[in-house]
Amino acid sequence: MPETFFITTPIYYINATPHIGHAYTQIAADARARFERMRGKDVYFLTGTDENAVKIARVAEAQSRDIQEFCNELASAFRDVWDGLNISYDDYIRTTQPRHRVVVQRVFEKLWQDKHIRLDKYSGWYSVPDETFFRDEETIERDGEHFIAKPTQDQTKAPLEWVEETSHFFDLSKFQDFLLEYYDAHPETLRPEARRNETLSYIRQGLRDTSISRELDWGIPVPQSVPEHENHVIYVWFPDALLNYASAPGYLSDDPERRAHFERFWPPDLQLMSKDIFTRFHSTLWPALLKALDLEPPRELFAHGFWTVEGRKMSKRDPATIVEPIEFAKQIAELANCEFETAVDALRYYCLREVTFGADGDFSRLGCVARYNSDLANGLGNLVNRALSMLQQYFDGEVPAAQGELGLISALRETLPRVETAYATLDFSGALSAIWEIVGQANKLIEDEKPWVKMKAGEKESVALLLRELLATCQWCAAALFPALPHSSRRLAQLLNLGELSWDEATDTKELFSPGHRCVPPAPLFPRIPKPETITEEHFLKIMETPNNEPTPSVPPIEAAPIEEIKPERTMIEYDDFAKIEFRTGKVLEAERVPKADKLLRLQVDIGSETRQILAGVAEQFEPENLVGKTIVVVANLKPRKLRGFESQGMLLAASQDDGPPLALVSFDGDVPPGCVVR
Ligand code: MSP
Repeated sequence: MPETFFITTPIYYINATPHIGHAYTQIAADARARFERMRGKDVYFLTGTDENAVKIARVAEAQSRDIQEFCNELASAFRDVWDGLNISYDDYIRTTQPRHRVVVQRVFEKLWQDKHIRLDKYSGWYSVPDETFFRDEETIERDGEHFIAKPTQDQTKAPLEWVEETSHFFDLSKFQDFLLEYYDAHPETLRPEARRNETLSYIRQGLRDTSISRELDWGIPVPQSVPEHENHVIYVWFPDALLNYASAPGYLSDDPERRAHFERFWPPDLQLMSKDIFTRFHSTLWPALLKALDLEPPRELFAHGFWTVEGRKMSKRDPATIVEPIEFAKQIAELANCEFETAVDALRYYCLREVTFGADGDFSRLGCVARYNSDLANGLGNLVNRALSMLQQYFDGEVPAAQGELGLISALRETLPRVETAYATLDFSGALSAIWEIVGQANKLIEDEKPWVKMKAGEKESVALLLRELLATCQWCAAALFPALPHSSRRLAQLLNLGELSWDEATDTKELFSPGHRCVPPAPLFPRIPKPETITEEHFLKIMETPNNEPTPSVPPIEAAPIEEIKPERTMIEYDDFAKIEFRTGKVLEAERVPKADKLLRLQVDIGSETRQILAGVAEQFEPENLVGKTIVVVANLKPRKLRGFESQGMLLAASQDDGPPLALVSFDGDVPPGCVVR
């Protein structure tokens, strides 16, 4: 039996559609789940929606909607977003599902029978948006109303509601010592370190018994066997929402198969959430509940940071701060003229690369555009395009035999364990930057090796060697990137004519690129976003305001980059600018070397109306005597400048590869008199 890996995300409130903050947890969990599957583990990736909250009922009622119908609609909207983002969840729990409700009621009964629940009067301040009670000392009074005294970034600043009623209380205070001892013996359970410390000091301050029922008519009813059940529903957090992590895999199910599933996967290996729901709920109430039920606690609880958008807290009152992941990916797809799934990968890449997992982050739409162009299009995309174009052009698409090593393959072997450790410890940014170090090295190797020059010089074997290393790098990237960019990884594997890649295949580069393996002609993996400097934040906001039936502003499509090109966008000039340049034919009358300047020739050139002295950097490629009598092209209206003490009164045109040396002068076969205009 393969080893199991049980990973969870929070279940989200569905009072609105998901934004980039929710998507972030999903993307991170997905990357880890895919990584574990690639390593051969049997993964159970659980996500879902938290539907029994008062605030959801209130939103539905405000829209005169049936609450359950409203939940059904929103839950399916959430699933659509996760499917669109390529989130590979294995199970989707909804807390209104019977499979969950029945378990919550059974657990409530069990806790009552085991005397973990008692009845008492409750009076306190309740925050509906946070679905949380606050102690008197945690609130302040202003103009007769009470507010959370020190609201965290995400907690409400709206007035609290005074609640006074008979309630059921969970004896949380009894678990204080257990929790401290457990965390002392298992420090690895709480991550990152800052959150662990926060939890320990929260518990040490003293835990109080918690009210776990409310007089409401939306939620899971307190079971009838428990006294004072009338009009009472179970507190949305406890045990309701928290228990999803156990009800979904099959805890207390009537179905023996589902119970066996539970036995096989329990306890969770990794539970992800953001820091706002870590301390109070996931690292205190949740393990206390599990202890009360005699269930093993989770192996790791990890709190990531909070995202703001362009420096501002996300808020429905400020629509520009709400980045809807699918809409945003569509906008990127439009800008890059790429597939939607590629744009989704760009979003995933940005989220995972931009901030260290655990720290807060600021989402910038333009930052995402910039990363797309620099890392995806100019980095990885260009590498793949160059490698595959060379294979087509120089070797007809068939991997050639090659001898020797250029160092890239050993760099791949050395880097892989770093990438692996990074994924395994949720350091996504570290994993991706290690991969991009390799991408950078490979692109640099192409520039250093200049295969296009080598091909001209007939050094095909040397190009074959380079190509083998580049293709191995592409294969390695396809495998190493799969957890983070699943769609692009698959597309890259297809371009390389490879099937599904396992983690080990990233190391096993030699085998697959044995001579004779064929690849298909390249198609751009990440088409570059043209003119990124002209895109502003307004561009995105304008699209957001555009009603659905109107087409979104479009940008011109772009073509695949040629092999050599890795430079940023070329600057385009107007025709008028071009027309200002005066090109004329000129006949070389004299040519001589310039003393102490190895590269310079001094030419006297007849341009029809006059003879010009031109200094040209072609001395290493052309003998002066061979140039005399040639008709060349001269830029005739260039301002004169001094070179090595001589005035140069123009410039001649020569062809070269990028910044390489001149290969040939622009000249004419036929008889062209000096002084003709060239245009
Ligand atoms: N329903 C509870 C969770 C119950 S879990 C048993 C809840 N839901 S929520 O809709 O408010 O979503 C909380 C989760 O969404 C956070 O823990 C985090 O994973 C994600 N995020 C919501 N906003 C976020 C940011 N601004 N930044 C990062 N993550 C955020 O709490």
